[in-house]
Amino acid sequence: MTKNISKWILAGLFLLVPGCAAVQAQNAQTVIRNGVPWFDDRGNIVNAHGACIVRDGGKYWLFGEYKSDETNAFPGFSCYSSTDLVNWKFERVVLPVQKDGILGPNRVGERVKVMKCPKTGEYVMFFHADDLGYKDPYTGVATSKTINGEYTVQGSLMYQGQPIKRWDMGTYQDTDGQGYVIIHHGGLYRLSDDYRSAVEKLPHIDGMGESPAIFKKNGVYFLLSSNLTSWEKNDNMYHTATSLRGPWTKRGLFCPAGSLTYASQTTFVLPLVNGRDTVPMFMGDRWSYPHQASAATYVWMPAEVEGTKLSIPEYWPAWDMQTLRPANPTAGATIIADSQVEKTPAGAWTQWGGQWVSTAKDSRLNVKFTGRQVAFTGEVNRHSGYARINIYDAKGKKVYTSLVDFYARNKEHGLRFISPVLKRGAYTLEVVNEKDSPQWTDKTKRIYGSDDTRVTIDKILVF
Ligand code: GLA
Repeated sequence: MTKNISKWILAGLFLLVPGCAAVQAQNAQTVIRNGVPWFDDRGNIVNAHGACIVRDGGKYWLFGEYKSDETNAFPGFSCYSSTDLVNWKFERVVLPVQKDGILGPNRVGERVKVMKCPKTGEYVMFFHADDLGYKDPYTGVATSKTINGEYTVQGSLMYQGQPIKRWDMGTYQDTDGQGYVIIHHGGLYRLSDDYRSAVEKLPHIDGMGESPAIFKKNGVYFLLSSNLTSWEKNDNMYHTATSLRGPWTKRGLFCPAGSLTYASQTTFVLPLVNGRDTVPMFMGDRWSYPHQASAATYVWMPAEVEGTKLSIPEYWPAWDMQTLRPANPTAGATIIADSQVEKTPAGAWTQWGGQWVSTAKDSRLNVKFTGRQVAFTGEVNRHSGYARINIYDAKGKKVYTSLVDFYARNKEHGLRFISPVLKRGAYTLEVVNEKDSPQWTDKTKRIYGSDDTRVTIDKILVF
């Protein structure tokens, strides 16, 4: 994909965490699969949306929104740790719903970002807090003495004695240790030495959008942001500058036009360190309102930088974190013969080409398999909705359940689900049409989402 990346791989220089040999020794699975649920050390879906990653104490720490499937109300911010950015251990909910205040019951809490303050050694967390109608926004601050401890809400981030009452935000820690908070549509604040307040407003950045993320490469600051389409995906853009004080130049898109940022929205950019240089890893959210805990997924991709040009030229459904090269998301799997798949009621499923399509509530596909993992590919499009996925063991006990979202503005075939690794054995996979689809409105009451409840399965695979 990039000359630079290949050069490193050839040189064998790439190390995820310097000094961490355990990852390779264990030969851990290091493939990132975009757009399907990831599972933590407990076998639960990695639930960390609007996330960021902090490198600290030889580990990576992932913080995010611990979404629920039922409501958009703040359910807490989660923390996971990893040595390889692929295999995540659930640490805890580091900021639970508060008794009251800006992250109290029936509030919104989003876009959690954490930085370690070099001066105080404290971990300082920033987030967007709001009411359920998004009409009472705050940039909030919380702190903890340990990275995975319970964070204490300090209240709103203040600037000149006033709370910063805006919504989407991100953070940036410069190489000199200075901390910044970047606010949607152009506000950039320098933080105090203890990171707990904003002390300077830098020149406004014209033309930027929501969901901001900043990184620096070879002395150039890159600022990524999205357009204003609520949970819908759009073509995200970027600006560059050689100083955070500007001037900022709007550069355009970093993914191909119309790809809607490969159906995701920016949340963070993590520079992957190789000792002497870095590769920026784009992190995006593939939202799935209103069932975000099960069905919203992540799109992480290495990006290319050449001078002031940022690009992710092609989408990789899967790629290897150790080589930064694309991978086959279903390598080693066996395709289940169509005759093995039971369709009920038979009339509800129509075969179009090789695919099975249904729109009817409770229509289901069942397949018995023997193995450790099951997966399926399918089509996403504007007419589709949710399927519930159940896995039963040989005794008929449900061992897994979650939702998969088949809605997308752009039609695409690909991997839609891959189960957690199970104890080798005999199981039944069931895919049930929920007759429910992602639909929502934004603040202006504009309607978004799917216009039907299709579920389209291409192939079922077993490992
Ligand atoms: C945008 C923001 C998200 C969230 C949704 C709500 O996508 O970036 O963080 O606030 O809007 O509609």
